[in-house]
Parts: sequence; structure tokens; C-alpha cells
Amino acid sequence: MQQSHTPTLVTLGLAGGQGKSTVALMLGRYLGRCGIPVLFIDADPQSSLTSFLGVHVQPNTPTLLEVVTQSEDKTHIVDAIAPVPNVQLDNCTIDNSNLFLIPSDDGLEQANYKLASSGISLFILRNRLQPIASNFGVIIVDPPPERSHLAQTSLGAGDKWVIPAEANVKGVQSLIRTLDLVKEFQSALPYGELLGVVPFRAKWTGIHPTKATKTSIEAMEEIVGSDLMLPHLLESDVYKNAINQRVSPSDLGQPGLEYSIQVLAQKLKPALREQYAKLIPTEIV
Ligand SMILES: Nc1ncnc2c1ncn2[C@@H]1O[C@H](COP(=O)(O)OP(=O)(O)OP(=O)(O)O)[C@@H](O)[C@H]1O
Ligand SMILES: [Mg+2]
Repeated sequence: MQQSHTPTLVTLGLAGGQGKSTVALMLGRYLGRCGIPVLFIDADPQSSLTSFLGVHVQPNTPTLLEVVTQSEDKTHIVDAIAPVPNVQLDNCTIDNSNLFLIPSDDGLEQANYKLASSGISLFILRNRLQPIASNFGVIIVDPPPERSHLAQTSLGAGDKWVIPAEANVKGVQSLIRTLDLVKEFQSALPYGELLGVVPFRAKWTGIHPTKATKTSIEAMEEIVGSDLMLPHLLESDVYKNAINQRVSPSDLGQPGLEYSIQVLAQKLKPALREQYAKLIPTEIV
């Protein structure tokens, strides 16, 4: 069925370091490489995504703070959209011309107070994005790790939710708490759907997972069922290097490390408008 609107995907996780920003970043970069215009939203005052994308917030330029706390009359959302700069890697230019970002800085924390007093924080980001959404093939939101109003407005903006969770005991606990959050608000968000769970930083020794990785992935599968389990992201310095150099593992000659991201893109494909869905290769490499 042909989709007529741009989906918003949100990486959710109610603990720090679960891979929310990494999965948002890698998925957006992959889709951008396929030719799909991607709008990232950095909804975390820690601003990891803004820094991972190499965007410097200019003085007197609105950020997500103004977008979620002011009306369109006062702050035009288009004025908050920054292009993601291209990156030079060795003699190669990594073209980021399909990538855009509404950035955050640490001032975004203040948005929580305004959102709390609004009484409708769940829908504010979704409503603000609506007029510009059709300019993009997908919108990807990276929320903060705690149960804040910024996390709620991120959740409410999402048509598709993905939960990255570290492949250890803390990750399983984070998954349980995140599913509770989704359950709490699901009836108010009938358009929202959980796409899947991505085990993050899975540790392998040779051809076997470590015991902690194996048992935690099994526990996650028991909680959400096998249909919602996506392939894991391996623990690897290649991701860290890719993040630091502002590129993808495939730019560093390791496309295999993006397998999980490619499977996630396939799951998202039916939600994309046809002109964009057809840009995602059917073959996963
Ligand atoms: N595959 C990997 N293996 C090892 N480390 C990784 C991998 N991918 C990302 N990292 C590192 O893990 C850290 C945590 O990841 P990330 O920032 O994506 O988590 P997060 O859930 O967004 O955290 P926060 O809750 O603080 O926003 C990052 O510093 C990143 O560099
Ligand atoms: Mg993060």
C-alpha cells in the first residue's frame, strides 16, 4: 500500500548508553546514502546527535528548544533546520546533502518545564513537525534517557518506535522500563507501533556470544517475542571510530557491521512513501 505521509521513527530507551543516538545516527546515515532526505531531531539536552553529526549551533539560530516552546508565529520551524556538513575522509568526500538536523544544546533542558506546564507535551513535537514533514522521506528523533517531558514529546511524535538495549542485565531492565512507558501512553497514540528491539554492544568471542550477551538477548526475546527481535549491533571499536570520524562503518570498509541497521531499514520500508521506499535496496549486503 502506498503511504502518503512521512513517518517519524524514535529510538527509545530509559537508561543511559543503550544505543539510542548510535542507532538513530547509523540508520539516518544509511537512509541518506540510499538517497532519502532525512531530518534528525536531537531531543536530548546532552546533544550527542548534534555533535555526532558535526553541527555547530549558531548564535541567534533557533534549536529544538524554541521549536517546542514557541509557536510557529514566533519561531518558524524551518529556521531551526541545519544542513549536516559533508565530511572529508582521506581523499574522499562523504556527501551528507540528504541529512538535516534540528539541533539541541544544553539549554534544551528548560523545555521540560514549559512542556510540563503545557498539559499536552505528548503531541507538541508531532504537531510542530507536521507542516514540514513532507519535505523529508523520514524523520528520526533521538530522545533523552529519562522519563522527562522531552522523552514524552519524542514518544508522541513517533509513528515507529525502536528500542535499542544493551546486551546485558542493565539493558534488559531498560527494555522493561521502556516497554512500560510505551504501554502507559499507547492508548493515546494509536498510530504508534513498535518496530523492534536492537540488542546493543553484543559481545562475541570467536563464533560464540559471551554468556551475558546470550542470556540477555534470550531474555529480551522472551519479553517481546521473536518477531520484534532485530539483529544485534556488535561491540566494536569500528562504530566508535566511525562516530568520531563522523562517518559510517561502511565508509571504514566494514559494511557488515551495518547489517542490523539494514534490517531495521527493511522493517521501516513499508511505512515510507513509495518514491523513497524504492530507494532502499532489497538485497541486504
Ligand atoms: N557497537 C559499538 N560498540 C562499542 N561502543 C559503541 C558501539 N556503538 C556505539 N558505541 C559507543 O557507546 C556509547 C553509547 O552509545 P549511545 O550514545 O548511542 O547511547 P545512548 O542510549 O544514546 O546514550 P544516552 O542515554 O547517554 O543518550 C557511545 O559513546 C558510543 O560511542
Ligand atoms: Mg543518546
